This record gives sequence, structure tokens and C-alpha cells, in this order.
Amino acid sequence: MSLALVTGATSGIGLAFARELARRGDDLVLVARDEARLDRLAGELRLVGRTVYVVPADLATREGAARVAEAVREHRIDLLVNNAGSSIGKFFGDTDVADEDAQLDLMVKAPMDLMAAALEVMRPRGSGQILNVASIAAFTPRGTYSAHKAWIVNLSQWMNIQYAREGVVTTALCPGFVRTEFHQRMGVDPSDVPRWMWTSAEQQVQGALADLAKGRPLSIPTVRYKVLGAIARYAPAGLVAAVAKRGRKLAE
Ligand SMILES: NC(=O)c1ccc[n+]([C@@H]2O[C@H](COP(=O)([O-])OP(=O)(O)OC[C@H]3O[C@@H](n4cnc5c(N)ncnc54)[C@H](OP(=O)(O)O)[C@@H]3O)[C@@H](O)[C@H]2O)c1
Repeated sequence: MSLALVTGATSGIGLAFARELARRGDDLVLVARDEARLDRLAGELRLVGRTVYVVPADLATREGAARVAEAVREHRIDLLVNNAGSSIGKFFGDTDVADEDAQLDLMVKAPMDLMAAALEVMRPRGSGQILNVASIAAFTPRGTYSAHKAWIVNLSQWMNIQYAREGVVTTALCPGFVRTEFHQRMGVDPSDVPRWMWTSAEQQVQGALADLAKGRPLSIPTVRYKVLGAIARYAPAGLVAAVAKRGRKLAE
């Protein structure tokens, strides 16, 4: 049994992580902004015998990120799942800089702070796991969202090189399209995305936890996205740019 902290646990991929980790016997620290949803989930997981702590926090604020980093240290967590995230439904250049600042805090600064806190408790102990939810969009140039995801993929790969030998494994999960609240919250209509491109949050979670257990730095669940990910990484840059130009609807 171990203690896992999941950010963005109220919906989508984070909710699936929380439920699956509880099913596997982990205790949990649940983080998101919506306190009522957090409490409902905590109640559900306590019913199956788990110890659950709730930390309501807005990770797009420095104060919120600091509170969660403190929870990482206080609870000496075994697994950090950096999952909370969102995207702005406009292209950089048409967005407000204040909104971009908040996105940078949520997608880059907060995961970095939580990883730093996790390393503080995991390295001296000689064990720990960090799972960063990135995106297949990390491999294509698609504005600030894909830039944030590329940042976390790159750092995760380095963390694994640097700290796996000290017992701390880091994996970046790169989902393709997943049926969650993500697109609705972003205000885009994903109805033109072909059915074969959709995956479930549960598929992502099973794939990610299997790859984390194997110590892999990168997790791309499903064969179809492994192929798409390889094309995005190894195809000529001009071809990747042409696909990226098709618009953000096809790669969040
Ligand atoms: N869905 C996809 O197609 C897809 C594809 C690739 C990658 N991803 C990535 O997967 C991760 C999870 O997204 P999802 O698809 O599961 O979306 P989702 O259903 O919208 O869930 C997002 C979660 O993040 C939390 N959250 C959002 N902003 C927050 C903030 N400022 N502070 C704290 N918590 C915040 C939300 O809870 P509250 O609203 O209660 O705060 C919610 O629990 C994200 O990092 C996303 O970039 C998604």
C-alpha cells in the first residue's frame, strides 16, 4: 500500500487515476478546485477502505501550488500524478497574456513545484514515482499548449535519466484524444474527430501505470497512438508542420 497524490482528480483522466489507484489499494491525496466534487470522490473511495485527504487548490495560483507542494512534503507521498490541466480555445496571439500566464502556472510552474517537493521526499528515501500527464501534442508545434506539454515530456525524460538510479522513476503519459470534460471546458466542438482517434481515460490509466511500473520515461497507450507518435517524432519537420496546420481540433 502506498500514498498517491493526484491533481485534477475530479474529472476525466485524473478521476480514472484516483479510482484505479484506490482499487489497487493505494491511499490518496486528491487535488482540484471544486471542493464539493472532491468531497464526493473522497466519500466514494473511503467506502472501499482507503484513507483519503482532500486538498482544494487552484494550481494556476502560486498560493494554491505552494499549498499542494506542502501536502506532498507533509504526507511524504509515494506517487505524484501531475494531471490537472486545461487549454485555451484560442491561438496564442489572440489570447490575453493574463490567461497565458495562468496557463503557464498551471501547466508548467505547478507541476515543477510539485516535482521539486516530491524529489525532496523521494530521493532521501530512495524510492518514489512521478507520473506527468502530457499529450501527444507535445510532438507537434501547436501553440502554447503543445509547448507546455513538450516542456514536461523533456523534463520527465531527463528526470528518469538522472534519478531512476536513486530509485525515483518519472514517466510522461502522452494521450491522444480522450473522452473527458477537456474539450467542452475549452469551448471547442470535437465532433469532427474520427471515432478511431478517441480513447478512454481508463485505457490511458492502465497504459500509464504499466509503463511507470516498467520504469519507462514515455507512455503512449494504444497501438494507433504509438504509430502516430512515432510519425510525429520521426517524420520530416515539413510534414509534421503541415499536419499541425490543420488546426488545434485534431491534436489536443
Ligand atoms: N482529454 C484529452 O483529449 C487530453 C489529451 C491529451 C492530454 N490531456 C491532458 O490530460 C490532463 C487531464 O485532462 P482531462 O482530459 O482529464 O480534462 P478534464 O476532464 O477537464 O479534467 C481536468 C481536471 O483538472 C482540474 N483542473 C483544471 N484546472 C485546474 C486548476 N487551475 N487547479 C487545479 N485543478 C485544475 C479539474 O478540476 P477542477 O475544475 O475541479 O479544478 C479536473 O479535475 C490535462 O493535463 C490535459 O492537458 C487530455
